[in-house]
Amino acid sequence: MTEPCTYVIFGATGNLSRVKLMPALYHLEVAGKLPHGTRILALGRRDWDNERCIREVREWLKQKVRNELDEEVFEAFARRIDYFQGDLSDPAMYAGLRKHLADDAGFPSNVAYYMAISPSQFNDAVDRLGNEQLFEEGAGWKRVVIEKPFGYDLESAQSLQRSIGRHLREEQIYRIDHYLGKGTVQNVLVFRFANTMMEPLWNRNYIDHIQITHSETLGVGSRGPFYDGTGAMRDMIQSHLLQLLTLVTMEPPVSMEAEALRDEKVKVLKSVRPISPRAVHAHAFRAQYREGSMGNERVAGYLQEDKVPPDSVTETYAALKLYIDNWRWRDVPIYLRTGKRMAQQQSMVSICFRHPPQQFFRGTQVEQIKQNWVLLGIQPCECLRMEMTVKEPGLEMRTRQTSLDASLRGDDESQTDAYEELLLDVIDGDRSLFLRYDEVEQAWRVVDPILRSWSTNQDFIHTYPAGTWGPGESQRLFDTEEHHWRHSLDPD
Ligand code: BG6
Repeated sequence: MTEPCTYVIFGATGNLSRVKLMPALYHLEVAGKLPHGTRILALGRRDWDNERCIREVREWLKQKVRNELDEEVFEAFARRIDYFQGDLSDPAMYAGLRKHLADDAGFPSNVAYYMAISPSQFNDAVDRLGNEQLFEEGAGWKRVVIEKPFGYDLESAQSLQRSIGRHLREEQIYRIDHYLGKGTVQNVLVFRFANTMMEPLWNRNYIDHIQITHSETLGVGSRGPFYDGTGAMRDMIQSHLLQLLTLVTMEPPVSMEAEALRDEKVKVLKSVRPISPRAVHAHAFRAQYREGSMGNERVAGYLQEDKVPPDSVTETYAALKLYIDNWRWRDVPIYLRTGKRMAQQQSMVSICFRHPPQQFFRGTQVEQIKQNWVLLGIQPCECLRMEMTVKEPGLEMRTRQTSLDASLRGDDESQTDAYEELLLDVIDGDRSLFLRYDEVEQAWRVVDPILRSWSTNQDFIHTYPAGTWGPGESQRLFDTEEHHWRHSLDPD
């Protein structure tokens, strides 16, 4: 059985803690997965005491838990929670925290510090924890969980790494990308490496191009200040979508062990063809939503969102074309795309196979045989589909697309949130679903030329009405006129 630990949550009263961390920890409690004796120290600026904190957590959970809140389980969960009031920017807070942890023998000496705080605060918080000897491992392990984005660009990521590296060994750092905790994302590996029929086809000889899409119907909501300094390229592509790309394209690792997996992911990122400043226009596209309709509702444009500067050119839609210069993928275009306030919420990987030869069908009504697609639905539909061509019933030779559906989860099978798995992995010391520093650095190398070019071109950004699939101009990224964005898991 895993040893108990103290989860210290920095930013415990913030959004991430409300909507993800506390619900995930509660669900682990429901599943009986939290080791006996595990405690949660919620750290925030607000003037709360334990009782108030527990009351608030209860309210958050009522909105977020999958089934109704189980009062008995909640009581057990609440017994684990303590509140510690403190301001991250106050150096004296860290000494207070040390004393608080030391004075109560009930806090397990294994400690995971979860940084659910603004990325600009990571550095100082780690520095001060380190200076206060809060990472000393004499009695138990000490781990730090850092949310994305790790840095703001290549240079700042390097500097953050140097700085936290003074206090922490790589094994103590858990750089989280919650996409990797999604069951369907992990299934990419199972699909590729547990099905013999896929591997021989998974290369440039058979695959025409790959698309990775994450579209959302929500706007930036209350996250305006964070988002405006971030944009879609940093928020989604540099992290989640490039991670998906590595899983779809990497060579088979020798094992599921963390280093083996991460070695292969880094190799792919290193093989991505660098985008020169002159090629940015051909490889990347950005846009911003304007006012529009989501169903029957009129919604504001990005510039009208709360706390967004009226002249902002931050992108809420970003698309990118990449090539991986290795034997498996040379010249296969890989298109990545993400956007807020789009027509549908959809995360999927779409793999388009090459055209079959047509001569067999000459002289029939079949004009053109469509290409096969393999579609991996990440969310909301968790599924795996293969699109094939079959003959239409009837006397004539006509064809149509049909899809073989290998759904991943039956209705009676439980669903877990990515954070549940990842929070447990931290306690277990399993880093395979967390990012190693070189992965993060290589991912920044991929997008850095684009970010630099965009930051110097601040005069114009394409716009799209909320509730649509983004501007048609993004078509300019496609290698050929035959390529088009695949929006749906259903046959075209
Ligand atoms: C986060 C981004 O990392 O991922 C958000 O900051 C985005 O902007 C979210 O909405 C998407 O994750 P999920 O799990 O909701 O698809």
